[in-house]
Amino acid sequence: MSETEEKPRGDLTTRTLAMPGDANPSGDIFGGWVLSQMDIAAGIAAGHRAQGRVATVAIDAMSFIRPVYVGDVMCVYAEVEKTGRTSMTIRLEAWALRNRLGSREKVTEGRFIFVAIDEDRNTRPIPPVKDLPF
Ligand SMILES: CC(C)(COP(=O)(O)OP(=O)(O)OC[C@H]1O[C@@H](n2cnc3c(N)ncnc32)[C@H](O)[C@@H]1OP(=O)(O)O)[C@@H](O)C(=O)NCCC(=O)NCCS
Repeated sequence: MSETEEKPRGDLTTRTLAMPGDANPSGDIFGGWVLSQMDIAAGIAAGHRAQGRVATVAIDAMSFIRPVYVGDVMCVYAEVEKTGRTSMTIRLEAWALRNRLGSREKVTEGRFIFVAIDEDRNTRPIPPVKDLPF
């Protein structure tokens, strides 16, 4: 790998094999499936940061850069970019390992906004970083 080659940013949060049932009628992976995998990874990152229940409130940015194919392993990298009082901006990148173990290519990037909520679905403050267990 060269010094200038782009590398994934964020923590590897999910890895999923793209299956034939996730494809559109043309045989490529459906964008909604990719979006859903990113929402799952963002929810894991946000839930950890908020130490509890969270909900997706907005998708601030989403770019589909390259197609995902059946047989690719899709790796989603997530990082908490910003926190507000109750909201968090999660930056995401998805990278495909072509044909399970081939070359790695960035396929999407996006920013999802999550809100910390309680059992009654009311918003709640994000805890300070010092209170996170890890
Ligand atoms: C999440 C939810 C409880 C928030 O309720 P709300 O009345 O919008 O709450 P608030 O107006 O107090 O906003 C809460 C925070 O979210 C932020 N926010 C709300 N809507 C936003 C939007 N569209 N874009 C960016 N940030 C937004 C606010 O700025 C605020 O941030 P802060 O506390 O860090 O300053 C409510 O919107 C909800 O239940 N939405 C549905 C969530 C859901 O079901 N998601 C799954 C989709 S199927």
